[in-house]
Amino acid sequence: MMLLTGGLGYIGSHTAVELLDNDQDVVIVDNLSNSQIDVKDKIQKITGKSIKFYEGDVRDADLMDKIFSENKIDTVIHFAGFKAVGESTKIPIEYYKNNIDSTLVLLEAMKKHNVKNLVFSSSATVYGKAKSMPIFEDFPLSASNPYGRTKLFIEEILKDVHAADPSFNIAILRYFNPVGAHESGIIGENPNGIPNNLMPYITRVATKKLDLLHVFGNDYETHDGTGVRDYIHVCDLAHGHLKAAQKLENNPGLVVYNLGTGTGYSVLDMVKAFESSCKVSVPYVIDERRPGDIDTCFASPEKAEKELGFKATRTLEDMCKSSFNFEVNNK
Ligand code: NAD
Ligand code: WQD
Repeated sequence: MMLLTGGLGYIGSHTAVELLDNDQDVVIVDNLSNSQIDVKDKIQKITGKSIKFYEGDVRDADLMDKIFSENKIDTVIHFAGFKAVGESTKIPIEYYKNNIDSTLVLLEAMKKHNVKNLVFSSSATVYGKAKSMPIFEDFPLSASNPYGRTKLFIEEILKDVHAADPSFNIAILRYFNPVGAHESGIIGENPNGIPNNLMPYITRVATKKLDLLHVFGNDYETHDGTGVRDYIHVCDLAHGHLKAAQKLENNPGLVVYNLGTGTGYSVLDMVKAFESSCKVSVPYVIDERRPGDIDTCFASPEKAEKELGFKATRTLEDMCKSSFNFEVNNK
């Protein structure tokens, strides 16, 4: 049985579907700080299977003790945390408290209940401004904002935990840019307020909830001057978690994988792909660079392919169409 912390969120909900579709039993704990309770029913509707759900905070040690006592958990996937880069610069203490404390409380509960397999949601943000592309897992790590530092610190904590107990198996997954939604169109990314990330902003412009996309800079060192990123379909990413969890069954110790496609697209590539896949227009203006942004970021997906047998298969068109479908369905 697998425990998903933050399992009603964007990536967690898609991973729950992928796990259930592959006959895994799923328990979710989520405090609903960035998700809605109806996602639980939606996951069950898509899969035709039931999940056990605990509403509460991963930092609540008594709750975690109860969850591990009541369920035979062998693997934990730890998604819970705050994730907005800009917000983290305004309320850093909340970010450190939530992301780091939740991980520590979880690790203590796992230790107490002798649960030794953990998959952790890290981020390509831990590579900072990488020296060259593609990015390999052994590149130097750095962070330029509190959110990124929480991920970096947690990775270090996990290395210490593994060093102290080598029988602890940990897969650190560094996601690149997750986009898209489940093909059913009933779960997807639904940020509150004005989206920070590119794809949810595009879908809101395409559905006329927002007027114009602001393209943050067109003077980067890229093929058209706009920022290049490695966008990966969230259902591919979800499959990566299944593969990582399977890997942990063979006691690999601590392992680190990029989850990306290996292909970079610019902001304008994304706009064009969205317009042609979804037959809608996405008006935009060129604006100032966003502070902290880098020119280019894309993964080497080789290690995950070789060691996990994981390869992203969904196309850019799939990413655009499924994102649009979810936005239209969730008016
Ligand atoms: P999300 O906000 O949609 O999901 C996180 C979930 O965790 C939410 O449902 C929220 O209610 C819950 N949560 C937060 N703090 C909690 C706590 N203390 N106790 C219980 N539940 C809590 O985010 P997501 O996009 O699904 O991201 C999941 C993980 O992946 C996060 O750790 C994030 O930092 C990481 N990540 C996300 C991206 C991305 O672009 N979406 C990229 C790289 C890494
Ligand atoms: C993508 C590109 C922007 C919005 C962030 C986090 C990272 C990870 C994924 C969690 C960039 C441009 C964006 C807009 C734009 N999250 N853009 N107009 O910044 O690569 O990564 O999410 O771990 O840590 O930093 O993603 O979607 O915000 O931006 O022009 O309105 O789109 O400048 O080039 P980013 P993004």
